[in-house]
Amino acid sequence: MSLIPKETVDQIMARADIVEVVGEFVSLKKKGQNMWACCPFHHEKSPSFSVSPAKGIYKCFGCGKAGNPVQFIMDVEGTSFPEALKYLAKKYGIEIPEEAPSPESSREQNERDSQFIITDFANKHFQQNLHEHEQGGIGKAYLKERGISAAIVKKFELGYSLDAWSDLTDAALKAGYKQQYLEATGLTIVKDDKRYDRFRGRVMFPIHNVSGRVVGFGARTLKSNDKKSPKYLNSPESEIYHKSNVLYGLYQARQAMRMQDMCYLVEGYLDVLSLHQGGIDNVVASSGTSLTDGQIKLIGRYTQHITVLYDGDAAGIKASLRGIDLILENGLNVNVVTFPEGEDPDSYIQKVGDTAFKNYVQQQAQDFISFKASLYAADTKDNPVKKAEAIREIVASIAKIPDSIKRSVFFRSCSLIFDIDEQVLVSEYNKMQLQDRQQAQTPKTGSTYGQEPPLPPEAEPQEKEESDTDVLKRYEREIVRMLLNYPDRVLEEGITTCQYMLEQLEDVEFRTPLYARLMELVKEKLCEEKIPVAEDFINYPDQEIRAEAISLLSEQHELSHNWATHQIFVPHESDLLPYGAERAVLRLKWRNVQLLIKMEMEKLRLVTDPEEQIRQLTTIRSLKSFENQLCDMLGIVINR
Ligand code: UTP
Ligand code: MN
Repeated sequence: MSLIPKETVDQIMARADIVEVVGEFVSLKKKGQNMWACCPFHHEKSPSFSVSPAKGIYKCFGCGKAGNPVQFIMDVEGTSFPEALKYLAKKYGIEIPEEAPSPESSREQNERDSQFIITDFANKHFQQNLHEHEQGGIGKAYLKERGISAAIVKKFELGYSLDAWSDLTDAALKAGYKQQYLEATGLTIVKDDKRYDRFRGRVMFPIHNVSGRVVGFGARTLKSNDKKSPKYLNSPESEIYHKSNVLYGLYQARQAMRMQDMCYLVEGYLDVLSLHQGGIDNVVASSGTSLTDGQIKLIGRYTQHITVLYDGDAAGIKASLRGIDLILENGLNVNVVTFPEGEDPDSYIQKVGDTAFKNYVQQQAQDFISFKASLYAADTKDNPVKKAEAIREIVASIAKIPDSIKRSVFFRSCSLIFDIDEQVLVSEYNKMQLQDRQQAQTPKTGSTYGQEPPLPPEAEPQEKEESDTDVLKRYEREIVRMLLNYPDRVLEEGITTCQYMLEQLEDVEFRTPLYARLMELVKEKLCEEKIPVAEDFINYPDQEIRAEAISLLSEQHELSHNWATHQIFVPHESDLLPYGAERAVLRLKWRNVQLLIKMEMEKLRLVTDPEEQIRQLTTIRSLKSFENQLCDMLGIVINR
């Protein structure tokens, strides 16, 4: 590649605005001095990718990627420095004084570059065919018949491949391009020692990557009743075309997707074109393949909201449901619109017109979970066995949603659709979670030393039948047990168990009356500057307190029999007291927060004022984030 003069490099660098450049790839939100977004370089749920307009740089606090606009383009497109400069030069209309790449110099470029260049050549060639070649008239007539305007043909760079054996191949070779790259991109097929074009007599739909370079083609035959050749042919995978990471129309749609914070997902090329023509710019197509994780992440760079526009036939819909679960798994919000039997988005908008189409989409849009639930509920009305299966199916979808608040909203709406108790859905969900976890668990081997000592044995979650108060009672009891047994043991830096626990749990109200009273007694002693000793409790006037204290004091450590009989070295509880005390405190806090969240969720149900709902959601979210912190500290992984 020829050298870009230093002055031009400087000019590009000076002109490139970091917010504008980055803003084309992710949606930035202003917060303080900087702009923030979810990082385009690694998967994350909350934004840690920042752009500083003042400094002209971006930095991700999650993955560490950082740099100026040129670096950003190199990172996001995986291109070389000169290519990134060219990209920016094009964006800002800065001319680079260099010779056009001759076929000679193109030979020296690496594989990817060469593939881009040949694909670009083909794209121009196909467009030329459509507009200038006599055969192009057939293509034009077809597009016209399908109601596609000249403006859209231009915007999407549609073209035509001649109905001839090797029109493109010959033209490319004549211009000096190498056969090797024609083959690598699938444009030319070599069989025995014959070369011929893959695409012949078809309307060509170039597929762009996010930065606008053509990476491959979709090609539609004009012969409506030719059974031998498929309706659509597509470029094969190549160095530059990875189907699972490309969406048709994304390049043309991404700005609108960001602005409208919504992406319409359709199946076909013509659906994309017709919707654009009707003024719906935020639309992409999965091009006949089932949706992939990479494609969803691509959409997620621009918006968290997807509306899937489906053809009308039920079989097709059920087949696509899996792909939608994948959207949920990625934490995006999904709505669904179906069209009348026999219609697809293209045919429908052409039939009813833009305004009616938009109204239809608005009215019909339904969240995916309710959509799926209604779909199954209708099928299974009078068949309890089928109904049970359907419920499992829906719960499995809900389980994919990472956000627990959203999940609980869906449990509620589905309970209405299926006309069953919400609790049935929740317990089905719990059952699934438990099974998943059991499957994920591998048998432990080797020494158990160094792992958490067995106190209290039943501490981890998933106690089904136990009520919330029972659970709390257990954790409160554990705290009091430690206090009574080791009141004056120094944990660290001169702090005793009593001091530590009371300090840590200062704002935690014990809910079990018996343990609340015992806590009070300990506090009283400390206030008198005395260490509470066993006798204080054992000889206490109140019988209930006495009995409980005795029971607690006789439980210094709970070792499971397995541990002892297997002669595994088990440290005495008191050896690990600092650790045990800390965990006991964290667990109690955790349980308390869970209970609080539950109570706030209950309240959320009752409020109807939208502002009040938002306040309530904020409260819940902050409690949730506290819960997450506690779980992190406890090393508990909760599916959410
Ligand atoms: P359809 O076959 O459902 O499209 O393919 P259609 O609506 O009947 O026909 P047109 O496109 O409106 O004329 C929908 C999409 O599936 C992919 C293409 O992306 C197409 O736009 N497809 C379909 C293929 O890739 N290959 C095929 O052979 C057929
Ligand atoms: Mn169609």
